[in-house]
Amino acid sequence: MKKHPDIEKVLLSSAQIRKGVEKLAGRISRDYRGKKLILACILKGGVVFLADLIRRLDVPCAIDFMSVASYGGGTTSSGRVRLIMDLRESPEGKDVLLVEDILDTGLTIEFLLENMKTRNARSVKVCALLEKPENRKVNVKPDYAAFRIPNEFVVGYGLDFAERYRNLPYIGILKKSVVDRSL
Ligand code: PRP
Repeated sequence: MKKHPDIEKVLLSSAQIRKGVEKLAGRISRDYRGKKLILACILKGGVVFLADLIRRLDVPCAIDFMSVASYGGGTTSSGRVRLIMDLRESPEGKDVLLVEDILDTGLTIEFLLENMKTRNARSVKVCALLEKPENRKVNVKPDYAAFRIPNEFVVGYGLDFAERYRNLPYIGILKKSVVDRSL
C-alpha cells in the first residue's frame, strides 16, 4: 500500500505487525491453555489489534470491550482517565487480558488495573501491541507487548490523531506539519 501523504515514516509495516501479532498469539495461547480467558479490548484504538489477535489464538476466549478517555484531541496525554463504557460481562473468576494498542504514559493501564482490583477476576494481565518505554509516567508494564517504539506520535492500525488514520494498515509517524496545522 502507498504511504499516506501525512505520514513522515512507516515505523512498522503490515507484514511486521502480522509477524509480531502471530508471535504474541503463540505465547498467549500457551500461557492461557485451560484458563478462562476474556480479552477485554480497550476502545477504540485496541479494536484492530484485537481483531487480528483473536484470529491467531488457539485457546477458547471470550471478548468484551471497555472504553476510557485519556487524550482529548491532541498528541500528548492529558493525564486524566475516565471510564466511558464498562465491560458487558462480569470478569469475576475469569482470566482477564486487557488488550491495548499502545502503552504510553501508562496512565490508562494504571487506571484499568486499579479498576479491576475490585472485580474478583482470577487474574488480570496486560497485552499491548506497542509500548513506548521512554514516556512512562507511572510504574506499569505490559505482560505482553509486540513492539517497543521510540517516543514519536504514531498512527495507523487502530491508532488515531483526531479520529483520523485508524484505517491505515501500517503504523507510521505523523508529519509534524499535520499536527501543527490542526492546533
Ligand atoms: C490511547 C491508547 C491507549 C492510551 C495509551 O487511547 O489507545 O488507550 O491512549 O496512553 P497512556 O499509556 O498514555 O495512557 P486514546 O485515549 O487516544 O483513545 P482511543 O483509543 O479511543 O483513540
